[in-house]
Amino acid sequence: MSQKVAEPPKPSDFVIRTVRRDELENLIEVYRSGYEGLEEYAETDEEDIRDYLEWLYEGDPNGFLVAEIEGKLVGFISVHADWWDRRYQRRTAEFHELVIKKEWQSKGIGKALMMAGLDYARAQGCEYASLWVGEGNMKARKWYRRLGFEELGKGWGVWVRMVKKLEANL
Ligand SMILES: CC(C)(COP(=O)(O)OP(=O)(O)OC[C@H]1O[C@@H](n2cnc3c(N)ncnc32)[C@H](O)[C@@H]1OP(=O)(O)O)[C@@H](O)C(=O)NCCC(=O)NCCS
Repeated sequence: MSQKVAEPPKPSDFVIRTVRRDELENLIEVYRSGYEGLEEYAETDEEDIRDYLEWLYEGDPNGFLVAEIEGKLVGFISVHADWWDRRYQRRTAEFHELVIKKEWQSKGIGKALMMAGLDYARAQGCEYASLWVGEGNMKARKWYRRLGFEELGKGWGVWVRMVKKLEANL
């Protein structure tokens, strides 16, 4: 006998918006799930993740965006638009974090968050978008390259610097 099951939500149903401070707690699970298998590039202790999320939020609350599907947060991006890149001696929008919950990856949500983050950076007058990615995180490295980020080489430890030049907002 066939049973009728409810259709799972489609990624097209997601909304992107700025996070509220009282939602940071819900992002601990999103972060943990997204980094499953990539723990060497992530915080793993719950208290450390909580502190990290607070730090991301405090640095630029307007650059902290979430993807929401049917009232549930499934991913987020954190951009600090007024960041001084000491290594390259210039102002940049620093993309500190981008993570999608495991079961929602590869459905276009990360790209939508990245586009919203880049729009935010441009609106703040930034000329560059920069990030650090784990050298062994080949999926993300390839993914960023497809979105126009270039690798500037290895930085400190296991991290690779990637930068994208932003065109002015027309
Ligand atoms: C990296 C990450 C943010 C990407 O988000 P995502 O929602 O899974 O990716 P998307 O579905 O938006 O990808 C969109 C595009 O990338 C393509 N893509 C998806 N997976 C890919 C892969 N492994 N390699 C190359 N391209 C890929 C898609 O085909 C799509 O391309 P299209 O628009 O031309 O069809 C997500 O996988 C993630 O959270 N990873 C774990 C945490 C992490 O590594 N964060 C980065 C830290 S610096």
